[in-house]
Amino acid sequence: MGRRAVGSAASRRASRHWWDADAASYQAEHGRFLGDADFVWCPEGLTESSAGLLGDVTGRRVLEVGCGAASCSRWLARQGAYPVAFDLSAGMLGEARAAAGRTGTRVPLVQADAEALPFADRSFDVAATAFGAVPFVADPGAVMREVYRVLRPGGRWVFAVTHPMRWIFLDDPGERGLVAVHSYFDRTPYVEYDERGVPTYVEHHRTLGDRVRDLVSAGFTLTDVVEPEWPDGHEQLWGQWSPLRGRLFPGTAIFVAHRPD
Ligand SMILES: C[S@@+](CC[C@H](N)C(=O)[O-])C[C@H]1O[C@@H](n2cnc3c(N)ncnc32)[C@H](O)[C@@H]1O
Repeated sequence: MGRRAVGSAASRRASRHWWDADAASYQAEHGRFLGDADFVWCPEGLTESSAGLLGDVTGRRVLEVGCGAASCSRWLARQGAYPVAFDLSAGMLGEARAAAGRTGTRVPLVQADAEALPFADRSFDVAATAFGAVPFVADPGAVMREVYRVLRPGGRWVFAVTHPMRWIFLDDPGERGLVAVHSYFDRTPYVEYDERGVPTYVEHHRTLGDRVRDLVSAGFTLTDVVEPEWPDGHEQLWGQWSPLRGRLFPGTAIFVAHRPD
């Protein structure tokens, strides 16, 4: 593992292989926490039913970006929305199909890349994602432009990502993860690679300012950045997310933006 430049195509290849291979174990580890038909925004446990970041979704056409097993879309369907869920990984979409069978709640599933969406202009009222696609693409500006294109004027885009300040720490939920070791300003992606040097996992960093600029350059109006606090009594770890760190600094940033009318 290390830090080195990786472009869009190599990031896409790495993500597709990684999430295909990891789909079953990701669901085994996190599926219970995420629920079969629930909308959980982040490891802090903030749910859409308590946060209401998407507004009233009844009758709305909602695009779930990087949906994984699509639990958010099944929750949305149960609220009376018309979700479409897409993901790069066939393995993750397989988990979504399995969950549809378990729950009896079926939503349209599409295999697609967030940098080039196969949807018509102005075809959704809302787009949303909990940690899907955005942290894994080399060109998040392209994702912002594509989401803007497929939203109708007045539409809303809400996405959760790892809080940019986490980049400065080791990926460790314990004491070692409290010490700043990396520059916040170094955008070189985090890469794991195989013995031939081919990237197998890539995560791309953007500062808070970069995220705002990507949104505004695409045409969005930013209305909020939510930084969920770690709730008292919540003891569950998720990778580097832990109560120890969560009590001291944010782990998630949720950007709320609108396409102007
Ligand atoms: C951390 S998972 C989040 C999934 C789901 N939202 C959840 O909360 O479990 C990240 C997801 O983003 C997807 N992804 C990564 N790069 C993508 C891309 N370029 N386009 C679409 N999906 C992508 C992965 O396949 C994976 O399912």
